[in-house]
Amino acid sequence: MKVDEVGTLRVHRQRFNGDGRAFAAPARVNLIGEHTDYTGGLVMPMAIDFATVAVISSRDDGRAVFYSVNFDEEISFDIASLGRSPRGHWSDYPLGVVWSLAQEGIAVSGFSMSLAGNVPVGAGLSSSASLEVAAAMALLSHAGKELPLQTVAKLCRRTENEFVGAKSGIMDQFVVAGAVAGRVMMLDCRSLEFELLPLPDEVRVVVCNSMVKHEVATGEYGERSDEVEAGQAVLRRERPGIELLRDATLADLEACKDKMSAASFARCRHIISENARVFEARAALLRGDVKRFGALMIEAHASVRDDFAASCPEVDTLVEIAVRQPGCFGARITGGGFGGCTVNLVEAERAEAFVEALRREYKAGLGISADCFVCAPSDGAFAMAAKGGVQ
Ligand code: GLA
Repeated sequence: MKVDEVGTLRVHRQRFNGDGRAFAAPARVNLIGEHTDYTGGLVMPMAIDFATVAVISSRDDGRAVFYSVNFDEEISFDIASLGRSPRGHWSDYPLGVVWSLAQEGIAVSGFSMSLAGNVPVGAGLSSSASLEVAAAMALLSHAGKELPLQTVAKLCRRTENEFVGAKSGIMDQFVVAGAVAGRVMMLDCRSLEFELLPLPDEVRVVVCNSMVKHEVATGEYGERSDEVEAGQAVLRRERPGIELLRDATLADLEACKDKMSAASFARCRHIISENARVFEARAALLRGDVKRFGALMIEAHASVRDDFAASCPEVDTLVEIAVRQPGCFGARITGGGFGGCTVNLVEAERAEAFVEALRREYKAGLGISADCFVCAPSDGAFAMAAKGGVQ
């Protein structure tokens, strides 16, 4: 599933008459801990082997020129007059990173950037974070600057929140930048401390795309985050010591039930119970208890579906089919929701048979051909760069 780095370097050389440097960032799948990140909660994602490649070289006319190999489209901006002006176009992501860097006091001089990627778009696998982080790595190198992982993740999130206009948390940018091959990452989205945990050899992570597209920047994701924010504001007001939902217990929430909407109550109940599940999943992983881990994934799916109301019938069908298959420990929706992918924990030897059965039954039931991938935890952009990556 490697994106063609050499090909992208060649395209760049032909288009911009000069050699560039290439940087890559992966996609991600979240094993457990959904919709917890923007309230300082816990998540457990891993990077997966899809990538966005950004190739960069200098130019001397003060312009930011982006070329998308995927769309075969070039777009150019004057860096000196760059404002916060998204256009609802793919270039918002790399351009937003230029803007975020400027907010950090890092000015970039003129550059040409070629971008190519194979991360499925709208599938909940973080195509946007992959694009932001690849662009950030390229732009930092162009500016001759190094920043710590936390700062890169924060500034890419800022791009998403303040430039693109999506209310997302920091999980995607953090794991896409900071993952390490062979490990899943448990991230505390409040402190940004993280642990890298091994995945037992006897299991595989299978990602299945329901083929129902979702958008984080518009619609329901934003609505859910508003409902959560309203509930969190009540808890903050009513219960001393609570700053974020992360600090609240189910008893705190129950005590405030009458002061918030039924929707806010349910959304907050999902988040509080999900944080507890991530803690338990960590413990299960550390003792190699894949059965318990899988059971927690199944509980987490029910919670996203019922309390968070962020699933859809197609994804629920994929999960129902998955949990009936021999060798499947757990299955759930992953990412922002309202479509996109499921993540499944499956016995290694049965992974291929699992994929076949899932595709067959989903097609028979709903008439949709699902894309399925058996994934291993991959390196994030920092680890790729440290190992010499594609530069
Ligand atoms: C999207 C957002 C993340 C996170 C997930 C849900 O992927 O970008 O910040 O909120 O949804 O867990």
